[in-house]
Amino acid sequence: MATAGKVIKCKAAVAWEAGKPLSMEEVEVAPPQAMEVRVKILFTSLCHTDVYFWEAKGQTPMFPRIFGHEAGGIVESVGEGVTELAPGDHVLPVFTGECKECPHCKSAESNMCDLLRINTDRGVMIGDGKSRFSIDGKPIYHFVGTSTFSEYTVMHVGCVAKINPEAPLDKVCVLSCGISTGLGASINVAKPPKGSTVAIFGLGAVGLAAAEGARIAGASRIIGVDLNASRFEEARKFGCTEFVNPKDHTKPVQQVLAEMTNGGVDRSVECTGNVNAMIQAFECVHDGWGVAVLVGVPHKDAEFKTHPMNFLNERTLKGTFFGNFKPRTDLPNVVEMYMRKVNRNRQIAAAWSMVASF
Ligand SMILES: NC(=O)c1ccc[n+]([C@@H]2O[C@H](COP(=O)([O-])OP(=O)(O)OC[C@H]3O[C@@H](n4cnc5c(N)ncnc54)[C@H](O)[C@@H]3O)[C@@H](O)[C@H]2O)c1
Ligand SMILES: [Zn+2]
Ligand SMILES: [Zn+2]
Repeated sequence: MATAGKVIKCKAAVAWEAGKPLSMEEVEVAPPQAMEVRVKILFTSLCHTDVYFWEAKGQTPMFPRIFGHEAGGIVESVGEGVTELAPGDHVLPVFTGECKECPHCKSAESNMCDLLRINTDRGVMIGDGKSRFSIDGKPIYHFVGTSTFSEYTVMHVGCVAKINPEAPLDKVCVLSCGISTGLGASINVAKPPKGSTVAIFGLGAVGLAAAEGARIAGASRIIGVDLNASRFEEARKFGCTEFVNPKDHTKPVQQVLAEMTNGGVDRSVECTGNVNAMIQAFECVHDGWGVAVLVGVPHKDAEFKTHPMNFLNERTLKGTFFGNFKPRTDLPNVVEMYMRKVNRNRQIAAAWSMVASF
């Protein structure tokens, strides 16, 4: 590429201050250094985690900063030592990386890479502690190693998953955070048995994907819980069979769910970021076997309080980043899951059109 090794000037949405509107600016993006890649971002979406760190309530603010971590793009150039990726590869950035060398990456049970796990307080590259973005020579901080609200961004190679080039990037970009997180929280972590009952707290993108995961796993009742009733109709398409709006009840939601399910749900997945919903999601699972999975990012000062007896009564509480998927190893397969469904739908449509033409 003609731009390899050179600074690229491009547009980026810069957050100058916490909670203030982003402004479109021309930024300079330095070339990738050792073990880094520079990616042309074609599509990016918004996840609640961006909003949370942009608001920066109760946090140590780090501004100016370029947010964005749910995206799809094409590799423009690669730095020294990068052998797995080449210019032209289609990729999804991931906010938590996979070095493939550390004990976590080598463990089948973890995706909490020692080197590249999510770090919201770091605004610079791991290699040299510097930012690759600048305006008039002044550095602009990165966000979770991705900063996708820019036409070009630089990432560590371990935070970039190479995917099938036939996958439509405008669709699969949402697999780079929210959808994989919710899906994995259900199928990899909650693991609802066939015929079980699952409660999903929060029906944003993450919660809808968690509902879809519960449906894929074979759950027969999927109860969506949200304070916003306008989410319910959409959630039906993702597998929710019933709904509870805590605002409609005077009793605690735990009790409402226990009464609906003869003692509690088999699994619950919390996708709100609200600590009260996290406590409810734990306390609503059935004693003896219930498992609750926390996905939402809580307020910095939030404290989870429950009576220890809830654990003694054989309820399990778990949490997950990125649905326990290993970004580089597993994300290409999540994209393939989507592609198989697209191809199957195409075949069904073709078969129907043949039937119709007879
Ligand atoms: N663990 C991870 O790897 C990971 C990855 C992505 C997102 N997240 C987090 O997951 C959460 C969901 O993300 P999203 O993009 O789907 O957010 P979203 O804002 O689109 O959806 C959240 C939903 O929760 C509902 N809600 C809020 N408080 C509630 C309560 N007390 N009871 C019931 N419902 C309530 C809201 O009405 C909303 O519909 C966020 O906290 C986000 O930061 C975590
Ligand atoms: Zn996200
Ligand atoms: Zn690692």
